[in-house]
Amino acid sequence: MSIKDKVIIVTGGTSGIGEGCSRHFASLGARVVIASNQEERGQKLEAELRSAGHEARFIAVDVAKEESVQEMVRRAVELHGRIDGVHCNAGVWARGKVTEFDEAIWNKVMNVNVKSVFWTAKHTIPVMERQGKGVIVITTSVAAFIGFPAHALYCASKAALESLIRCLATDHAGWLRVVGICPGTIDTPMLAASCEGWNKPVAELYADVARRIPVRRLGQPLDIAQTAAFLLSDEASYINATSIVLDGGTMALPPW
Ligand SMILES: NC(=O)c1ccc[n+]([C@@H]2O[C@H](COP(=O)([O-])OP(=O)(O)OC[C@H]3O[C@@H](n4cnc5c(N)ncnc54)[C@H](O)[C@@H]3O)[C@@H](O)[C@H]2O)c1
Repeated sequence: MSIKDKVIIVTGGTSGIGEGCSRHFASLGARVVIASNQEERGQKLEAELRSAGHEARFIAVDVAKEESVQEMVRRAVELHGRIDGVHCNAGVWARGKVTEFDEAIWNKVMNVNVKSVFWTAKHTIPVMERQGKGVIVITTSVAAFIGFPAHALYCASKAALESLIRCLATDHAGWLRVVGICPGTIDTPMLAASCEGWNKPVAELYADVARRIPVRRLGQPLDIAQTAAFLLSDEASYINATSIVLDGGTMALPPW
């Protein structure tokens, strides 16, 4: 399995799952473009990876805005001359029922989680078409398939991505592969934020959840990064228009 020398953009590449992917892809010899709206973290990660001898560049982007995504793609091509893979991973989370939400939160979640992938695909696909080859990996969630209480908006945003995966893969068949990764419960800043307001400290909540997951632990960003690297490699050339669930077995559990 090799992604050596491949040019791979990771959106949301400065935190949690995305940071794990940036680090892992770089360690495998990829030319990583770390893209996110966390400029300070991005500059630091770029410096750290480059000083360790890896090829990594940070590009600041707001994935919710088309012109910002277009500029990210332009700069990646300017740096490396090509784009072999994009991991659309940036995302935001929101808890609440539809009755509690207004249009602003709808726009935020849908723009960052869904529109971002639309724009990223729109601007990378022509580059990949010219090359005759490319891969788009999209971080969705088990939330696309489960009706998590008070998560209608987040769940709907992730379900939209599942559809986008199939449509992009069929519209650009022959030279583009599009694959989703559906993480379960992964130990990241987003997960920690989702535990705020509960009646227990985060460590206790994590231990409770880990006891229920069939593999008996939370997922780590590296669990996602290892699969993402495989999906971006040529060895995964027959995996297309589908999603890989990485949840330690959570979705197999009975509901009570
Ligand atoms: N942690 C989990 O348990 C879990 C489970 C399923 C799916 N996911 C998904 O995995 C992805 C990564 O989540 P994480 O847990 O690592 O969260 P995180 O909060 O640690 O990282 C999210 C990243 O997205 C970036 N981002 C957010 N808005 C952006 C914007 N407008 N422009 C550019 N970058 C932006 C952030 O800067 C950050 O780097 C998300 O799509 C999330 O929905 C996470």
